Amino acid sequence: MTEIAFTKSNTLGVMPPEEQLGFGKYFTDHMFTMDYDPQNGWHNPAVIPYNEYSVLPAAMVFHYGQAIFEGMKAFRTDDGRIIIFRTKDYLARFNRSADALCIPNIDIDVVTEGLKKVIEVDKAWVPTKVGTALYIRPFIIATDPYVGVKVSDTYKLFILLSPVGAYYAAGFDPVSIKVEDKYVRATLGGLGEAKTPANYAMSLRAQEEAKKEGFAQVLWLDAVERKYIEEVGTMNIFFKINGELITPDLVGSILGGMTRRTVLELAKSWGIKVSERRISVEEVFAAHEKGQLEEVFGTGTAAVISPVGELSWKGKKITINQNQTGDFAKKLFNTVTGIQYGKVEDTLGWVD
Ligand code: COI
Repeated sequence: MTEIAFTKSNTLGVMPPEEQLGFGKYFTDHMFTMDYDPQNGWHNPAVIPYNEYSVLPAAMVFHYGQAIFEGMKAFRTDDGRIIIFRTKDYLARFNRSADALCIPNIDIDVVTEGLKKVIEVDKAWVPTKVGTALYIRPFIIATDPYVGVKVSDTYKLFILLSPVGAYYAAGFDPVSIKVEDKYVRATLGGLGEAKTPANYAMSLRAQEEAKKEGFAQVLWLDAVERKYIEEVGTMNIFFKINGELITPDLVGSILGGMTRRTVLELAKSWGIKVSERRISVEEVFAAHEKGQLEEVFGTGTAAVISPVGELSWKGKKITINQNQTGDFAKKLFNTVTGIQYGKVEDTLGWVD
């Protein structure tokens, strides 16, 4: 057991009505923090009031983007328990992102303890309605006050908690997607498989242009040939073609999503043929032509499953499953959320 300091906030907030939560707008009363320096390693674990935090404007994170984050969720079950989904798996990915950004690894057990403590303190903020959750945002920033380019010596870790509803306004309705052939999200040998702000900064312009053209998101292609599919918006992508579930393999430029992994593990446990492999846009359009493209959907922690209803590429538009949410996407959504809310038995050991 680690000693975690606790300072109680003297101004406690009130959670807005659950139907007004939206995504990521409200934060609970407390947060978990830790500090890193080369002498002490990660130290000073504490639950403190959620408040302004002061750092010098020279802090390296502002200049060269040395930062990583995670996105996980806790849920309220019908009998009032609070469960966190795949904590250790998410925090293991946090450490893989840390490696990519030259940030010192965290001790997963200590951070899990800190996370459980801050959730316990702020448990009144865990919403109860179906479709809601407590979104958990761990992140680490480089804090050396220095404007030369190097790896920072000091860091700060935070875990913020945010009660949330649906991520997308469209909820579980299919969305229209533009195959992006001008901009790329990530390159092989770059940061694509790390959860780091740079990848999200990289996505903004393409997303803005797609929105102006009437699309909800973009479908990212590989940076070299602009041929193979990588991700959709901020999510991983799945295709169901002729009974087989296909998702791009993790070649290095694609984030290894936890919901992606969850969907793969579930589909395999159901005996469905699953492939992690390169898949080109041509292949998807050809499968549609042959009447074999059954379903397309994105997967991510925030939205869970997000069906794709239309795909546009080089002026050609295809409609998938009559622009309806497919049965397989529904079954996955119901099973994943069922496990998360404690309604479906957690046979694969995913909840804490
Ligand atoms: C997800 O959880 O699907 C995301 O990547 C979105 C998050 C960055 C808000």
